[in-house]
Amino acid sequence: MNINIYPMTQQDFNTISPILSAEFDDFWTISALKSELGNPNSSYIVAKLNSEIVGFAGIWKAVDEVHIMDIVVKKNYRHQGIGKILLEELLRLTKELGFHVITLEVNAQNTIAQKLYLHYNFKEVRISKKLLWYWARCLNLYFTCIDKI
Ligand SMILES: CC(C)(COP(=O)(O)OP(=O)(O)OC[C@H]1O[C@@H](n2cnc3c(N)ncnc32)[C@H](O)[C@@H]1OP(=O)(O)O)[C@@H](O)C(=O)NCCC(=O)NCCS
Repeated sequence: MNINIYPMTQQDFNTISPILSAEFDDFWTISALKSELGNPNSSYIVAKLNSEIVGFAGIWKAVDEVHIMDIVVKKNYRHQGIGKILLEELLRLTKELGFHVITLEVNAQNTIAQKLYLHYNFKEVRISKKLLWYWARCLNLYFTCIDKI
């Protein structure tokens, strides 16, 4: 599969917003994504197969860490390696931006996403009161992994 990664544009947002809930996932609201796209501290990317958007992901740059806001693959393209491609690009971006820590929150029930993160040496660091697991990894540790990719 020839997947290409690009920064998310307003046109990409217009394309995915009508199908976001049905074909990607229902937990992410269109207005939240729209405001993230206009946020100078956020960076969003899309994965395209030819011209079709088959996934997207985003990070938010905090003071001393990068937080993964979302990573979603279109339902009928899952488990074909696109999630890994998106996450590798987020890690590359994080490294390029000069950050040393990347964090994310994942629902305790979401074992598929957790497996993806485990592939990249994310470690569970605490369980929040919201019952979301807050995972983090030190980029210094996974520089070696990036070299292996
Ligand atoms: C989580 C998600 C982004 C993974 O994307 P994907 O393209 O399906 O993932 P990949 O094909 O790159 O697989 C990465 C790893 O995840 C795990 N995985 C993916 N799909 C799986 C499935 N159906 N069953 C079991 N493990 C699975 C595997 O460990 C896989 O690696 P492996 O096949 O080498 O063992 C995707 O399932 C998704 O969009 N889920 C809904 C949104 C979501 O939950 N996002 C995360 C929010 S924290």
